[in-house]
Amino acid sequence: MSFDRSIKIAPSILSADFANFGQEIRAIEAQGADWVHVDVMDGHFVPNLTFGPPAVKAFRPHVKTFMDVHLMIAPVDPYIEAYAEAGADMITAHWEAGPHPHRTLQAIKATGKMAGISLNPGTPASVISELLDLVDMVLVMSVNPGFGGQKFIPSSIEKVRQVREMIGHREIMIQVDGGVDPNTVGPLVAAGADCFVAGSAVFKGGSVDNPAAYGENIRAIRTAAQGALKNVA
Ligand code: DX5
Ligand code: ZN
Repeated sequence: MSFDRSIKIAPSILSADFANFGQEIRAIEAQGADWVHVDVMDGHFVPNLTFGPPAVKAFRPHVKTFMDVHLMIAPVDPYIEAYAEAGADMITAHWEAGPHPHRTLQAIKATGKMAGISLNPGTPASVISELLDLVDMVLVMSVNPGFGGQKFIPSSIEKVRQVREMIGHREIMIQVDGGVDPNTVGPLVAAGADCFVAGSAVFKGGSVDNPAAYGENIRAIRTAAQGALKNVA
């Protein structure tokens, strides 16, 4: 994938039907998802447990767009190769996951995958200043990671603005994850974000038997984002 500043909507399959991932992934893509966001949790870095590499490998054949793997695990370095082999297109690790985020990003790059660095709500933007030349994306968490359906933390908007300023002319995307919906997405676009993870706001009211609701939800987020983008430009 080449650099692309267009708006990207990445539904999180954390809000999908866990008995039906293949169909859920195909449904969100057919309904307009740009990426598929996979939340990996270890019950240690975050208080929840989700997908090991075999699960991610099983998702892979269903993903025709771009598989964005968000690792909320510590330590993270020992598992990078396994998630790369499972078929991730982008691997995002948390700055807080260990003492050597620079080494972590080198390890992701060494697999040939795109690399992202994520910041928890309590972590200032400034900590990534020495890492920007190693990343394709900065993920600003707008909730404390671990669960879907949490309330958006408004201070993330100012953090996005700071990260965009630090990025300058570099070709780096800014993703926001947590509580993103048609109301919160506008100010985030205005602040400089271009990639939006949404779990509950995409999956609400829909199912594999009623996928049109996914499409309506994705369009509502995209329309709000594009409206804000016009005002920026
Ligand atoms: C939270 C995850 C998110 C989560 C977002 O730890 O990283 O991707 O699924 O869910 P919503 O959009 O419901 O806040
Ligand atoms: Zn996530």
